[in-house]
Amino acid sequence: MSFLKTNNLAKSYTRRGEEFFAVDRVDIELYKTDFAVITGHSGSGKSTLLSLLTGILKPDSGEIIFDGKDLTQLSEDKLAYLRCSEIGYIPQGNTLLYNLSVIENITLPSKLSGIKGVNIVELLKKVGISHLLNERPRNLSGGEARRVAIARSLISNPKILIADEPTSDLDPENADSILRLFEEINKGGTAIIIVTHDRQIPTAANRYFMMQNGKIIEN
Ligand SMILES: Nc1ncnc2c1ncn2[C@@H]1O[C@H](COP(=O)(O)OP(=O)(O)OP(=O)(O)O)[C@@H](O)[C@H]1O
Ligand SMILES: [Mg+2]
Repeated sequence: MSFLKTNNLAKSYTRRGEEFFAVDRVDIELYKTDFAVITGHSGSGKSTLLSLLTGILKPDSGEIIFDGKDLTQLSEDKLAYLRCSEIGYIPQGNTLLYNLSVIENITLPSKLSGIKGVNIVELLKKVGISHLLNERPRNLSGGEARRVAIARSLISNPKILIADEPTSDLDPENADSILRLFEEINKGGTAIIIVTHDRQIPTAANRYFMMQNGKIIEN
């Protein structure tokens, strides 16, 4: 049974008076065990598609059926709740809050939502940042900061993890260890979608998509 399915999903923007589709009639169907990779040139619509899949961005048209619910029909409150419970999201770039410590960054979403998180000690161990709990993000390396964002996305034990270029800016060794972590998370029963570049294709992935001018094809 499909777990995440889009039908004719579309989102357009207007630039210099011209409308263009950042996401153009995308149909994908993923299963609960999938580890999906999306590649494509800069500007091809990858981040826009992920923002739609998390419910952060509203599509112009189409459906997003996640675990039996059409996300396009849910209220903002319900979507926010889903993002604190069932959908883990790691946005592109650095999204940590700089005035908060590592542990505060990780636990803030679950505190705000009141949703009970997973065992934090185990999570930190798994992600490899147990020794950094009280650090501020500015004192972390790129790889460490990325691990904090990963831990934050996993605190609710989500059913799906959606990550936008989680290994960009990392050296090959760090990128590799993050991809191995994703593999472990996927084996633990969480579906994964990551946007990445060709040279970082994780070996554990079983679905490969490419975006071009807002359209998606499966390879
Ligand atoms: N809020 C916005 N308003 C107008 N145009 C936008 C907006 N957000 C994105 N775009 C445009 O939509 C297109 C797709 O952007 P998107 O960020 O999805 O690309 P991407 O594939 O993630 O690129 P990258 O690999 O550089 O992150 C680009 O042409 C971008 O300039
Ligand atoms: Mg992007």
